[in-house]
Amino acid sequence: MVPILAIHHDPLYYPEPNNFDPERFDEEKIRQRPAFTFLPFGDGMRNCIGMRFALLQAKIAIAKLILNFEFSVCDKTTIPIEFNASTPFLTPKSEIYLSVKKL
Ligand code: HEM
Repeated sequence: MVPILAIHHDPLYYPEPNNFDPERFDEEKIRQRPAFTFLPFGDGMRNCIGMRFALLQAKIAIAKLILNFEFSVCDKTTIPIEFNASTPFLTPKSEIYLSVKKL
């Protein structure tokens, strides 16, 4: 098993790992990190064949959602999010509640 969540949250590679910081993925910052420190789609000869399609689809979905709705946390949102420790897949322990307003 490769501990991807731990690698992606290692402050050695990703300072203040729980902060949202899109600049982590600037070309220069990516170059400064060692290989195999960003593995959502695996790496090497058997990495995900659907990576480009998945990224494109996710970006279109997020763009359409934030174009039409405003999302914010509410009383029922669990902060910080808790993960389900009884599965090898990264899933939240309970539902993710958000407040959604149509724009
Ligand atoms: C967010 C969406 C996705 C994530 C996070 C994801 C992640 C992964 C990961 C981690 C692997 C293993 C890579 C490795 O062993 O190094 C993999 C393999 C694979 N994925 Fe995805 N995947 C996604 C979407 C897709 C889509 C949309 C398709 C097809 C249209 C797809 C098809 C495959 C296939 C066929 C493999 C096996 C590749 C091989 O063994 O040669 N994936 N994926």
